[in-house]
Amino acid sequence: MQKVLVTGGCGYIGAHTIVDLINNGFDVVNVDNNIRSTTKLLDGVEQITGKKVRNYKVDLCNLEDTHAVFHENRDIVGVIHFAALKSVGESVHEPLLYFQNNLTSLVNVLKCVKEFNIPNFVFSSSCSVYGNTTALPVVEETPLGEAQSPYARTKQMGEQIIEDFSRVNTTQSILLRYFNPVGAHPSALIGELPLGKPDNLVPVITQTAIGKLPKVTVFGTNFNTRDGSCIRDYIHVTDIANAHTKALQYLLDKRNTANLEVFNLGTGTGVTVLEAIKAFEKISGMKLNYELGEPRPGDVIAIYANNTKAREKLGWEPKSGIEDMMRTAWQWEVALRDRVLNN
Ligand code: WQD
Repeated sequence: MQKVLVTGGCGYIGAHTIVDLINNGFDVVNVDNNIRSTTKLLDGVEQITGKKVRNYKVDLCNLEDTHAVFHENRDIVGVIHFAALKSVGESVHEPLLYFQNNLTSLVNVLKCVKEFNIPNFVFSSSCSVYGNTTALPVVEETPLGEAQSPYARTKQMGEQIIEDFSRVNTTQSILLRYFNPVGAHPSALIGELPLGKPDNLVPVITQTAIGKLPKVTVFGTNFNTRDGSCIRDYIHVTDIANAHTKALQYLLDKRNTANLEVFNLGTGTGVTVLEAIKAFEKISGMKLNYELGEPRPGDVIAIYANNTKAREKLGWEPKSGIEDMMRTAWQWEVALRDRVLNN
């Protein structure tokens, strides 16, 4: 059984990816320092797959400790690197924390990938690298725009580090640029666990509906879009997860045509904030308490993906629409409440 090393697998997208990897026959080990997560999601992974995933509780900014993990797992066929701080808002106030953590951890992992001759490397990147592009739908060749936050800049710089690394190393790398990952595994055993008050739209919607938040504020309704609210390319987290398995398989089969390739992970369909709210109301049968508010500084007005490259080269096909995303996000929120009530 081929073994994969995942970093940051106790997080939202990492945990869903581990489920998909296991369901596709891979053995997985995880590295996560749990500063922004617990092993709760790995418990959910075990309930879903029947497999207990070992977590090395290691800070990837410590090269010696990171090296020890690789030394103990010399048989891995690839690394999928999720581990990073990812709050756009926090990064504005703590830029040095973001540069130090996100870049040091990446460089340390790449040093070990090089030393142990790991053949394949997949990097968790983001559509935020495109900045305020107006060339929609976005293709991978779109020139990167001005990063709108230090978080986005760490993703841009991370991609450049990997590009320079790939030029002089045989490891084959893939950059996956996520658009807006939302929703939860249909079992409702794993999902998004925002620490404190969420910033992102979908957990704000579900926490408002369940009564943890008083209301949703729509950040801006006078933009030049079909209903005045911002447009995003929401993509189901299980579709994002499957793209990682497809990307690793693509590298293992040596179908890549270059040492470094980039893929957009979006549905290709833009959805406005008000449409997302309507989709939630439809699947939940609830009337959501929302108000129309002022724009949020730094928000891109509209962004959605051209995902042709991932479809054609990776054989990847996103399966879920906005209603599935809202349904599974809501089921997860309800499961979280019931678990608290029953414990
Ligand atoms: C979506 C839309 C808001 C909250 C995220 C991550 C970023 C990156 C890209 C991974 C926007 C509106 C939101 C609310 C609202 N992901 N909104 N009321 O900003 O697109 O970025 O995806 O790398 O890390 O932050 O996502 O969910 O915050 O906002 O109206 O209470 O919803 O204005 O138009 P965003 P988001």
